[in-house]
Parts: sequence; C-alpha cells; structure tokens
Amino acid sequence: MKRLAILGSTGSIGQSTLSIVEQFPERYSVTALAAGRNVDEALAQAVHWRPKVVSVATAELADQLAARLREAGASGIDVAHGTEGTVACSTHADADFVVSAIVGVAGLEATHAAILAGKPVGLANKECMVAAGEILTAAARAGNVPILPIDSEHNAVHQCMRVGEHKEVRYIWLTASGGPFRQTPIEAFASISPEQALKHPTWVMGRRITIDSATMLNKGLEVIEACRLFDVPPSQVRVTVHPQSTVHSLVEYVDGSILAQISVTDMRLPILYALAYPERPASNLTFDLAALRHLDFDPPDFERFPCLRLAFEAAEKGGAHCIALNAADEVAVEAFLDRRIPFTGIADTIARVLADTPETHPATIAEVLAEDRQARERARALLN
Ligand SMILES: NC(=O)c1ccc[n+]([C@@H]2O[C@H](COP(=O)([O-])OP(=O)(O)OC[C@H]3O[C@@H](n4cnc5c(N)ncnc54)[C@H](OP(=O)(O)O)[C@@H]3O)[C@@H](O)[C@H]2O)c1
Repeated sequence: MKRLAILGSTGSIGQSTLSIVEQFPERYSVTALAAGRNVDEALAQAVHWRPKVVSVATAELADQLAARLREAGASGIDVAHGTEGTVACSTHADADFVVSAIVGVAGLEATHAAILAGKPVGLANKECMVAAGEILTAAARAGNVPILPIDSEHNAVHQCMRVGEHKEVRYIWLTASGGPFRQTPIEAFASISPEQALKHPTWVMGRRITIDSATMLNKGLEVIEACRLFDVPPSQVRVTVHPQSTVHSLVEYVDGSILAQISVTDMRLPILYALAYPERPASNLTFDLAALRHLDFDPPDFERFPCLRLAFEAAEKGGAHCIALNAADEVAVEAFLDRRIPFTGIADTIARVLADTPETHPATIAEVLAEDRQARERARALLN
C-alpha cells in the first residue's frame, strides 16, 4: 500500500490521481491533500478520503474548511494553509509518495521539502522544474530520491530511456500537438480570443497550461524540464509537431534506433506509471491500434510560435532566464485571459522581461522565489 500526498488535489491532475486511487484501492491510499481556493471540492475530497491533513491556500479558507468538516462530522483531519500547509502535506510522516500537481511556483517549496524528506515525487508541476530544476535535481541526486515525470511527454521519455544508457542517447524528441492554432494564418494571431485559445484539440487541462499549449510556451517549458530531468543540454532536445498526440515522445539512440511511446491521450496512464514504477499494473487504459490511420510529424514553426524560440534561448542561458520565462508567462497569460492584452502580447511580454533579466544562477529556493517575484513585477509594470 502506497500512501499518497497529493498537492493540487482539486485540479485536473489531482482529480485524475484520485480516480486512480479509486480504481486501485489495494495499492494506494490518501494521507494528505493540498488544494488552493476551491473549498467545496477540498471538503468533498476530505470527507470522502479522510486524509490525515488537508491544506488550502489561506488562513480564512482553512477556517471555513475546518468549520464545514466539523459540521459534516469528519473528525481527526488536520486543516493547514499556505506554504506551511503544502509543506506539512508533502513531508507528512505517513506519506510514502508525493504527487506534485499545484500549478505554478506555488508548489515549489513543498516539492523541494518532499525531496529533502526523502519522499519519491511524481512530478506534474513543470513550472517547479523550470524555475528550480538545478536545485531540485541536485537534492534528488544527493538523497537518491526518485522524481518520476507525470507530464505525458517526459513520462514517455522516461519509458523509452529504460531500455538504453544515458550516454547512448542522441536526441530526446518531444512531441507537440501544435495546439489549436497550428494552421491559423499568422496575421490572425493578434485577434485570437481567450475562448478560442482555451479549446485544446486533444487534451482537457487547467487554464494556464491550455493557453501555454496554444502559444507553444508549454512545449518550451517542457524542453527545459527535459534538460533537467534527463540531464541533457538543450541541443539534445528537439520538438516535433504531431497533431494526433498519439506518440507521446521519442528517444533517438546513437545507433539510429528511435523508440516511441504510444498510448491513449489520458493523463491517468502517466500518473499510474509514476505511482507504480517500476511495476506496470494491468489497467483498462487501452489504445485501439487498429483505428490508427495517420502519424504526422512536422517541424515547429518558430515564427508563428515565438514563445518556443524564447524558451530554447532561456534553456541555453539557464538560471534566472528560465525563472523569468515562467514568471512572465504566468502574468501575461492572466492578462490575456482578462482581455488586457492580445494573444501576441504574451510572447511580447516574455521577450521584454527576458531582455531585462540578468544571467545569474540562483542557488537556493529563496533566491529562486526572489527572482520569480522580480520577474513578475517587471512583467506587471510592462502591462500597466
Ligand atoms: N492537466 C494536465 O493534463 C497536465 C499535463 C501535464 C502537466 N500538467 C501540469 O500539472 C500542474 C497542474 O495542472 P492542472 O492542469 O491540474 O491545473 P489546474 O486544473 O488548474 O489545477 C491546479 C491545482 O493547483 C492548486 N493551486 C493553485 N494555487 C495554489 C496555491 N497557492 N496553493 C495550493 N494549491 C494551489 C489548485 O487549487 P484550487 O483549484 O483549489 O484553487 C488546483 O488544485 C501544472 O503544473 C501543469 O503544467 C498538467
């Protein structure tokens, strides 16, 4: 029985993780749940799963949740909040495995604390790896703590890497669906609305990652995540546009063999893989190979998707540039969703913030968060 701490339990990945727990009650149980602002869902989950601790974003929300748990007769559940709360979840003595699925850098401290506490981490939160990958992977190596990727592309790479040696890898190929605007004329990009950008052709996900997929910044974050998770330079990571999202990624070996991972477009599969590794439990997440007709692979268009180019540049520079890329994007995506800037304003904002970013390499989580705050301030100043 693996006892789980789920950070971001009310989100898309968090809920998919809970559905895996539901499906495999003999393998997994819930020790800790960390949510943000969705108290209704946090309450329903806590009443259903009876964890040891549940955390929400603020003290006020924690008071509300505690009162409602009392009303519901659910006793024995500690209610925590804020960063202390997420850290209490990720380091709980009864947690054997931590699913890191809070969106943005809000999940960073708890993920770092989990690694320092020696807890294996299933990592969905790519922003953590982008902002502080150098620190997180060093801590994981030092403590011999596994970080298992849940992001479907990195999960696929992890699977393809199991059959070869690191020194035998020529390229990691990350597949990208290309998002909803793969074929949109470049002149139309400025008038893309939030509603259009929120319609992803193949995946149902949270709002930020859906917009990031439409700009392809998401793929850029994944390039950086791949460099850190698999310890390769950006020159060994390539992106290929594969609209069917059937091949989740590939690894090309030096002898010329290319291994690909194919499965349904359902995040429950990479979650199950991460939770069960190195085992492969039987599941009903089957893929109908007989129905497969096309597998297209095209080079990415850096002119249409300047965010991808900016991410490769940040990957080369590392450190503060990766932090600023993520922070500026988060601020710009919010502004786009609030209709304060056009779709093309997202890349413009990131480019301008990066132009003012120093080439430094923060060495601690506190320094990473300070750099993150400064980049956000620079982005907000540009947008006001
Ligand atoms: N969805 C996917 O298919 C997918 C695929 C690959 C990678 N990922 C990555 O997985 C992560 C989560 O994505 P998602 O799609 O699940 O996002 P989502 O649906 O927006 O969920 C985000 C989660 O983070 C929580 N949260 C936000 N701010 C918080 C805070 N300050 N403190 C504590 N919790 C907070 C939210 O809580 P409330 O809702 O309660 O506010 C929610 O549980 C992201 O890093 C994303 O890039 C997602």
